[in-house]
Amino acid sequence: MAGCLVILFLAFLSISGNAQVSIDCGASETYTDENSLVWIGDDGFFKNSESAVVRSNNTVSHVMSTLRVFTSLKKNCYTIRADKGSLVLVRASFFYGNYDKKSSPPSFLLLLDGNYWSTVKTTLDEPGIYEVMYVVKSDTISICLAQTQPNQLPFISALEFRKLDSTIYAIVDPNYALFVRSRTAFGANLTVRFPDDVYDRIWVPGRNVSGRVPVASDAKLINVTTAPDNPPRKVLQNAITNSSSSDSITLNPSFHDHGDSVYMNLNLSSLDLSGPLPDFSSMDALVTIDLHNNSLTGPIPDFLGALANLVDLNLADNSFSGLIPPSISSNKKLKLV
Ligand SMILES: *[C@@H]1O[C@H](CO)[C@@H](O)[C@H](O)[C@H]1NC(C)=O
Ligand SMILES: *[C@@H]1O[C@H](CO)[C@@H](O)[C@H](O)[C@H]1NC(C)=O
Ligand SMILES: *[C@@H]1O[C@H](CO)[C@@H](O)[C@H](O)[C@H]1NC(C)=O
Ligand SMILES: *[C@@H]1O[C@H](CO)[C@@H](O)[C@H](O)[C@H]1NC(C)=O
Ligand SMILES: *[C@@H]1O[C@H](CO)[C@@H](O)[C@H](O)[C@H]1NC(C)=O
Ligand SMILES: *[C@@H]1O[C@H](CO)[C@@H](O)[C@H](O)[C@H]1NC(C)=O
Ligand SMILES: *[C@@H]1O[C@H](CO)[C@@H](O)[C@H](O)[C@H]1NC(C)=O
Repeated sequence: MAGCLVILFLAFLSISGNAQVSIDCGASETYTDENSLVWIGDDGFFKNSESAVVRSNNTVSHVMSTLRVFTSLKKNCYTIRADKGSLVLVRASFFYGNYDKKSSPPSFLLLLDGNYWSTVKTTLDEPGIYEVMYVVKSDTISICLAQTQPNQLPFISALEFRKLDSTIYAIVDPNYALFVRSRTAFGANLTVRFPDDVYDRIWVPGRNVSGRVPVASDAKLINVTTAPDNPPRKVLQNAITNSSSSDSITLNPSFHDHGDSVYMNLNLSSLDLSGPLPDFSSMDALVTIDLHNNSLTGPIPDFLGALANLVDLNLADNSFSGLIPPSISSNKKLKLV
């Protein structure tokens, strides 16, 4: 923190309990938005900064319409008090919107607790959102913006802190941060966030996935309390499908860095599925498979035991025939239910 010259210390705001901190950068007033989130402005906290209003033809939310630009000093930081050891979500948003009339969207560095988080590359008219979930290592969280190139002034539009339940994302080693690449509500028409998602995770609608048909569940009640990572009901209510059951759905998640670890969970439990299991041996990134409480028949396929990353396999309450293949029974790291 030695190089951190200006600190906004919101000592009176802390993210404990269910409290949340939402900063509308460049704004001066405090207000409550349509999702019941309370936003505070950051006027008067930084000397070497200016607030600005975007001049975009795109309609943007109230939060994105103002920004704070740092006009001097190489590095500027927002510091928030937090509970050490708690799991938090931090979301930083950047919308250039040609606020300076130069049509020159800048690039700069984003730092989390003094470590490199990302290089922010802004565009003329598209908001950029950077999000991380991690276990706080001290009693503060610091988010810094650092200028790296002449005339490319760092700016920020919004900064949000949310406390998460420490039981979610338990599969992830608490010493690692979880950077969000995408979070999609397939088949949904609108963005889902607070209050539908109690943690205010933002789920982007994935409706227009080429060739896919959006479908809605007619279930009266989807009980999400037992599902891991607490997905909001609104997200599970919609889906995408294909007009023919023999067709596949291909999703292409993009990962920035080669060698990223991936945790993939296939949960098709309690869906009244029948017949034999198809060959999905190419889905070798799967870590958990839950097919319990269906009416699946036929032999338990051999390939399940050969999925390189599989740790949890739940086939309980089905009508499989035959023996458990040796690939599964002799697989020491695989837990079969
Ligand atoms: C907004 O629209 C005007 C007129 O159509 C255009 O000249 C201008 O470049 C647009 N601004 C941005 C930021 O796209
Ligand atoms: C989404 O929008 C389409 C078209 O406007 C509508 O037919 C459909 O019912 C909507 N779905 C949901 C889940 O709101
Ligand atoms: C869906 O995406 C295609 C191209 O990807 C586009 O041409 C079409 O207009 C989109 N439809 C809707 C309803 O957004
Ligand atoms: C949801 O499931 C949990 C655990 O099985 C149960 O305790 C709870 O009562 C259920 N909630 C509703 C609304 O059915
Ligand atoms: C799969 O989803 C059901 C709820 O539909 C949940 O009870 C179960 O814990 C989930 N399994 C896994 C491995 O996440
Ligand atoms: C169904 O899936 C196939 C690929 O398996 C795709 O080519 C086709 O466009 C899809 N059709 C519909 C109507 O979703
Ligand atoms: C099993 O799945 C059916 C739907 O297929 C559901 O109605 C039932 O509640 C599920 N049973 C358990 C124990 O989850």
